[in-house]
Amino acid sequence: MAGPRGLPPPCSGLLTIPEAPSPDSAEGAGDDVLRWADATKSKSKVAAPPNLSWWSVAFTVSFHFAVDLVSVNGASLLLEGKVALVTGGAAGIGESIVRLFKEHGAKVCIADVDDAAGEHLRDALGSDDVMFVHCDVTSEDDVRRAVDSAAERFGCLDVMVNNAGVTGAKVTDIRDVDAAEVRRVFDVNVHGVFHGMKHAARHMVPAKRGSIVSLASVASVIGGMGPHGYTASKHAVVGLTKSVAAELGRHGVRVNCVSPYAVPTALSMPHLPHGERADDALSGFLAFVGGEANLKGVDAMPRDVAEAVLYLASDEARYVSALNLVVDGGFTSVNNNLRAFED
Ligand SMILES: NC(=O)c1ccc[n+]([C@@H]2O[C@H](COP(=O)([O-])OP(=O)(O)OC[C@H]3O[C@@H](n4cnc5c(N)ncnc54)[C@H](O)[C@@H]3O)[C@@H](O)[C@H]2O)c1
Repeated sequence: MAGPRGLPPPCSGLLTIPEAPSPDSAEGAGDDVLRWADATKSKSKVAAPPNLSWWSVAFTVSFHFAVDLVSVNGASLLLEGKVALVTGGAAGIGESIVRLFKEHGAKVCIADVDDAAGEHLRDALGSDDVMFVHCDVTSEDDVRRAVDSAAERFGCLDVMVNNAGVTGAKVTDIRDVDAAEVRRVFDVNVHGVFHGMKHAARHMVPAKRGSIVSLASVASVIGGMGPHGYTASKHAVVGLTKSVAAELGRHGVRVNCVSPYAVPTALSMPHLPHGERADDALSGFLAFVGGEANLKGVDAMPRDVAEAVLYLASDEARYVSALNLVVDGGFTSVNNNLRAFED
């Protein structure tokens, strides 16, 4: 059964699409076609419309669906009826994603190692449509359990966001880098993402739909944005994204990643150079990264990243897969050191 725009309906939607009008006659076009088109949207049954010519049906229904799309977007409900799981969803960018998904009508499972923060966010959102599951993404069993709990509670899994990540300690000389620390970063950032993709696929492949979005970083594109292990791990997230997208495309499952520039969170703020720190940590951070940014006049915030994840999670991106969506105001694509735009 197809949903609006030819997509499968969300798992929780009990969609009943009535029969199409008969193509034999043009009599009764207009209101009856609109009523039929309305019924396909409103998920209710109506009496079969009178006989109509195919061109009038096609034109009127296409027009009506176009209007419908505008109104859905106008209502800002891009994930209505969908089920999403967000790893590392208790704080930072993950928390922004959880909040935005909820605003857009999703049922959301927060999966995080920080029980206090996860439970607090769940309670703050105060809804039966939000749950928390303790989950360390380095443990395959934890990820399996989190995914299955979300699907059991909400009926399926439409969207998997592999957001949990760590940078590892800031060490400025490779000769001092602890190899065990690099392995720990890979365990969370790469194996954790792999676990998420694998267990999301168990639900999405049989359903023939789904969207997997992982958090990479500008460190997936260029060097010098963080510790060596972090940069290598984020390049690996892009590789995993392309590889899994190559496999799951035939099942209708999209796989993408998002690569943000620096936004203020507990992960990024400790990496500010000591000389750039201010009494007000947030304004010091924003002043420093804003000064180095390409795009001026706007501070990159967790919500900006969440909006990109929302797009990839939603049916607005229904033909987008294997993409690394870089949310950096152009930072990794331009280099003004030669001052080509100065007199
Ligand atoms: N903040 C930035 O500037 C920035 C820039 C580029 C990419 N990113 C990426 O965005 C993602 C989120 O980063 P953030 O800045 O929000 O970090 P954060 O530290 O603010 O939040 C991370 C969340 O993940 C959870 N977490 C950590 N390890 C976990 C594990 N093993 N299992 C489950 N949960 C775990 C933490 O408890 C926390 O709730 C990361 O993948 C990060 O690499 C962040």
